[in-house]
Amino acid sequence: MASVGLFRLPEAGLTPRVAPLGTAKKPLPIIIDCDPGLDDALAIACAVVRPELKLLAVTSVGGNADVRHCTENALRLLQLYGAADVPVAEGAVGPLSGPLERATEIHGATGLGSTTIPAAARKADPEGAVALMARTLAASAEPVVLVPIGPLTNIALLIRSYPHLAPKISHICLMGGSVGEGNSSASAEFNIYADPTAAEIVFNSGLPITMIGLDVTHHAILDRSILERFAALPGTSAKVASELLKFSFDRSAAWGQGEKMAIHDAVAVLHLAIPDLVGVSRYHVVVDSTQGPARGRTIGDANPYRLKRDKLESNCDVGLTIDSKRFADEMVDIYSKLP
Ligand code: RIB
Ligand code: CA
Repeated sequence: MASVGLFRLPEAGLTPRVAPLGTAKKPLPIIIDCDPGLDDALAIACAVVRPELKLLAVTSVGGNADVRHCTENALRLLQLYGAADVPVAEGAVGPLSGPLERATEIHGATGLGSTTIPAAARKADPEGAVALMARTLAASAEPVVLVPIGPLTNIALLIRSYPHLAPKISHICLMGGSVGEGNSSASAEFNIYADPTAAEIVFNSGLPITMIGLDVTHHAILDRSILERFAALPGTSAKVASELLKFSFDRSAAWGQGEKMAIHDAVAVLHLAIPDLVGVSRYHVVVDSTQGPARGRTIGDANPYRLKRDKLESNCDVGLTIDSKRFADEMVDIYSKLP
């Protein structure tokens, strides 16, 4: 039974997905732009393991931690997962405008809790994130799905620097935003809050978007029971994931928020591999990039009357429902297949 967010579903209810879907026979080419990051670490694992996806590149952006840490974490995680052949390049330190936002109070000073993963045997590609994304798009025989799971700075720079590559972007399936409550503030979710200007460029780009926001990711929760399930798995990756999760459970408990963690970023990846895990609905979404108390809010409207009255077209799928138990089972299955 899919769990439904604690808010009013739009009048329209759920609508058919727009995001493309990979299959084992025809894996979907994707690029992940991330700020690892505890949940980013689990999202990258999903992309490496799922046969329906082909991870072409990973780029880093400052967010949960400083971008240098995010880059090194991406290199180390891919090496740990046996995917050290996936190109990695470093992106923006901070937002296009506004203050630098970090979430080290949640993810730890280095972005991966208190866990030390063996150092990467390679360095990031010196060309940088935006150039690597552009080169990958240009070289791909088919359009590629961008999967941003951190602040949208690199994606905005890509759109603005390489407008001729827009036809090579088949979809943007991003983790960010919320049509309900925020987390960085009552209004705004962290990835959007950290760079509202970039988010506004992305949402106004005309590119097809799926917004996997807090509305659905707050139901992609793991609790301490997962530690026992991971402990039974072979391989180092499951042990590292357990350490990362335990760090998060301990922090969450210390803040009186229960011993659990929303694995936000993994939902954006799994939506591209599993057809019926996430339920979506069409919304018109705008980003508040002003400096007021709603800065970074993704304002979503699905009300047919207002959309018609104001001549607004819906511009994205918004994730609303997920089967929470199935999500946890998928995470165990993925880590059972990692070294
Ligand atoms: O709000 C959740 C998002 O912020 C996730 O991407 C998490 O990794 C943090 O970046
Ligand atoms: Ca992230």
